[in-house]
Amino acid sequence: MIYTTSLDSISSEMLTGFFDGWPNPPSQEKHFQLLKNSYKVVLALDDKQVVGFITAISDGVLSAYIPLLEVLPAYKNKGIGKELVRRMFEELQDHYMIDLICDDELQPYYEKFGMKKAKGMVVRNYEFQSGR
Ligand SMILES: CC(C)(COP(=O)(O)OP(=O)(O)OC[C@H]1O[C@@H](n2cnc3c(N)ncnc32)[C@H](O)[C@@H]1OP(=O)(O)O)[C@@H](O)C(=O)NCCC(=O)NCCS
Repeated sequence: MIYTTSLDSISSEMLTGFFDGWPNPPSQEKHFQLLKNSYKVVLALDDKQVVGFITAISDGVLSAYIPLLEVLPAYKNKGIGKELVRRMFEELQDHYMIDLICDDELQPYYEKFGMKKAKGMVVRNYEFQSGR
């Protein structure tokens, strides 16, 4: 498995199979666009296919938010997600706040990286689930 923080050798064709289970997923082109527009990305690559990714957005001073982490179904439970999170935390180590929203069942997963439970509020405009 190769991990990279660069999009230099990445194209939208390498981004198949993500947003598993989403009723209205972004296209591969939109996926590539959101990677390009992110503050930081870490990708897991297997034979020129992206098999996992994590993104962060940031104000560049204090705060970072991790909106997306996904590993392709065939590659789950091999430690790829953990490595993506570990590497993203390295990228964001000079930030005061690093936040994300997750389901209750995933809280133990993130606690292993030193994250603490917190309460949050969200808006979801489902008509834009595939992108603006
Ligand atoms: C969550 C996810 C990124 C984990 O990636 P992964 O590469 O399969 O995970 P790893 O191999 O690094 O870690 C496996 C561990 O995570 C746990 N885990 C994975 N998915 C889980 C889930 N949905 N709920 C609870 N635990 C989960 C496994 O039980 C395993 O635990 P263990 O280390 O105690 O054995 C992956 O399952 C995924 O893409 N899920 C769908 C998208 C998603 O939920 N993203 C997170 C948004 S906050």
